[in-house]
Amino acid sequence: MKKKSLYINTFGCQMNVYDSQQIISQLNPIGYEVSESLDEADLIIVNTCAIREKAQQKAFSFFGRLAVLKRKKPGLIICAGGCVAQQEGKRILERFSYIDLVFGTHALKRLPEHIINISKKRCRISDVEMTDEILEFPSVASQVTNNIVTRFVTIMRGCDNYCTYCVVPHVRGPEISRKPEHIIDEIRKLVDSGVQEVTLLGQNVNSYGIKEGLCSFPELLRLVSETEGLFRIRFTTSHPKDLSQELVFAFRDLDKLCNHIHLPVQSGSNNILKRMNRKYTRELYLEKIDKLRKISPDIAITSDVIVGFPGETEDDFKATLDLVKEVEFDSLFTFEYSDRIKAPAAKFSDKISDDIKNGRLRELLELQEYYTTKKHRALVGSNELILVDGFSKKQDVASDRKGSEGIYWSGRTSTNKIVNFTSGDFFLKDDISIGKKINVKIEKAFLHSLLGKPVNLIPKPSKKKEETHAA
Ligand code: SAH
Ligand code: SF4
Ligand code: F3S
Repeated sequence: MKKKSLYINTFGCQMNVYDSQQIISQLNPIGYEVSESLDEADLIIVNTCAIREKAQQKAFSFFGRLAVLKRKKPGLIICAGGCVAQQEGKRILERFSYIDLVFGTHALKRLPEHIINISKKRCRISDVEMTDEILEFPSVASQVTNNIVTRFVTIMRGCDNYCTYCVVPHVRGPEISRKPEHIIDEIRKLVDSGVQEVTLLGQNVNSYGIKEGLCSFPELLRLVSETEGLFRIRFTTSHPKDLSQELVFAFRDLDKLCNHIHLPVQSGSNNILKRMNRKYTRELYLEKIDKLRKISPDIAITSDVIVGFPGETEDDFKATLDLVKEVEFDSLFTFEYSDRIKAPAAKFSDKISDDIKNGRLRELLELQEYYTTKKHRALVGSNELILVDGFSKKQDVASDRKGSEGIYWSGRTSTNKIVNFTSGDFFLKDDISIGKKINVKIEKAFLHSLLGKPVNLIPKPSKKKEETHAA
């Protein structure tokens, strides 16, 4: 059977990346193979994100680009999936006459069936039905992308927290955890296919398994860490209200667990945290940070902050700046508050103007740049064990490239910092390749990355020496 070509465009968070991998492995048995070419595609799938207005706009403008392709190739099948699809349902079919299928976040399993039906009957389908079952895909696979050292593994879907600004519970449904044996089995298969690092995904991993009476999240981490051949474990996201002492101890007890936690604070003001329905205070957040640093003094801590939430005063914003100064995060993802129709905060009064939101965002970013750079500079001179995962993409190293013959490799430290390095004018004892663990001495710090040289080098013999030897 001649393979048909699938182009998939993934927006949004790691959960969508994982779902797209599942989509690919599900469509393979019905004859589709991933291709990088949009023009040659027989099937286009857009996996969308609805977290902020801008993310949603990106999806819509990508849909817009597809009209011309459909005119050129009427047999082309175009599908909209993910969170915008879940939110908008049939409205997408009404607005974009050339889209054949809208499939929501719970419809992944029915995707092959829908695509077969569309190709046979040329019908248009909207499937945004939600279930309270966990979606298991026993075949999720190793076959998808070989030769990748690091992969995401969703351990739970949905969210029960209902932060007032957030669309996720409305488009992903209630929280459901996968069984540990399914997770372990999947990780085993990934490791067998060459994966060395996994990132466990959930909107709030700390509540893993509680509803279903499965094991706790730290217990799951212990089980995962017993996977032979697995080098590193990461996870995201941890909700501060549920971060337990047991999880703090996991950083001490589990060698494979990376020394990094992403702990979104959202705001430093108790008033705003309350209106966000975050269910913790600034004081409780700082207490958790203390506990983590007591157990693991060098732990990297990153966070998310929203500026301009409805009703955020100058004092509230100042409380956020003060918290950022107090914690000294390793890095920060910062967002301007964006109304989401399904989220209650969209109806809150005291909306903040775009100008004020912009100004606050800039001020916060500038402050954080200082701390990110400070943390990076502190690493200059140290040796870091990194897992090589690809080549350097960033401009940071561009100025250093001049005159160097070496390839710039890239990898991450346990603390999740990007390190670019080159073998420069040296030979290495072992060849560097993707998947190798290499000790790198950090020589330079930039805002987004570090630059270093491997330490397990043997110098290239100089010409002179070679001649002497030959003589
Ligand atoms: N489950 C994670 C967050 C997932 S969404 C958690 O609870 O931390 C990722 C980030 O997007 C959030 O942490 C928040 O900072 C941001 N975000 C979510 N909804 C938003 C909105 N309506 N406007 C602006 N930022 C938002
Ligand atoms: Fe959204 Fe809050 Fe759930 Fe995170 S915990 S996904 S911010 S509702
Ligand atoms: Fe976006 Fe949906 Fe993830 S809204 S952030 S893709 S859960």
